[in-house]
Amino acid sequence: MTKRLEGKVAAITGGNQGIGLGIAERFIQEGAAVSICYLSDKTGTEKTVEGLRRGGGKAVAIQADVSKLADGQRFISETVSQLGELDILVNNAGVEKRASFWDVTEADFDFVLNVNLKGLFFMTQAFVRYAMQTKRAGKIINISSVHEELPFPHFTSYCASKGALKMITRNLSIELAPLGLTINNIAPGAIETPINKNLLNDPVKLKSLLENIPLKRLGNPRDVASIAAFLAADESSYVTGTTFVVDGGLTWNYEEQ
Ligand SMILES: NC(=O)c1ccc[n+]([C@@H]2O[C@H](COP(=O)([O-])OP(=O)(O)OC[C@H]3O[C@@H](n4cnc5c(N)ncnc54)[C@H](O)[C@@H]3O)[C@@H](O)[C@H]2O)c1
Repeated sequence: MTKRLEGKVAAITGGNQGIGLGIAERFIQEGAAVSICYLSDKTGTEKTVEGLRRGGGKAVAIQADVSKLADGQRFISETVSQLGELDILVNNAGVEKRASFWDVTEADFDFVLNVNLKGLFFMTQAFVRYAMQTKRAGKIINISSVHEELPFPHFTSYCASKGALKMITRNLSIELAPLGLTINNIAPGAIETPINKNLLNDPVKLKSLLENIPLKRLGNPRDVASIAAFLAADESSYVTGTTFVVDGGLTWNYEEQ
């Protein structure tokens, strides 16, 4: 197999589990060196990174809370100092908090928006500033959600953050094109990761969700990682400002009896 990311360096936020880890594993297989940031669980993340290095790949882990601007900037600068350069940013870290609209607290709202939107915004800014200073082309990939389009009642803060990503990506595709930077979103549907642990442990809810998915299965991180590999590689050089939906047909599932 030709390695599509040979010689590239990728920084992946929240790359220690779930979709982010799936992307890190795939990027390593494709020949990239990978830096992942993690919020806590240093010991667990170190084991994960050892796993990533097992096949001879290059991987490092850096503690950073993406909701803090200084941490985001440090994640970019430490990636460069440890891996020598940076070509690809994957904004994957994300959180959600269930609450009916009338019950949402300021703390709930800030928790979700500070990670999914503010953190992503300024992480991307730090990456763009690095690319400008070093005159490098680069790729930005945001892990958005089908909920950048599709309503998700009781998760309005989450939908607000993912809807905003759609416009950030469209805007920046224009603003960053002269710098040789592309930006795209991946919008997963229901993927089997820790974020969905309540759903995965509830057979009734799970059955009703599966009935709504035309391909009749949940997605897995590898399904998302294969699109990320395409968007990170040179072969997608003419693709920018758009969203790739990976949802087993969930979003447009409508049928009349
Ligand atoms: N799993 C799904 O069904 C699904 C569907 C659509 C979109 N997504 C999106 O995919 C992305 C990854 O989610 P996942 O399903 O792998 O969930 P997950 O909970 O397994 O992973 C989320 C990751 O984000 C990290 N993170 C959270 N807050 C952070 C912070 N302040 N600083 C640094 N890292 C932080 C976590 O440590 C974790 O590594 C998220 O943006 C999520 O919204 C997931």
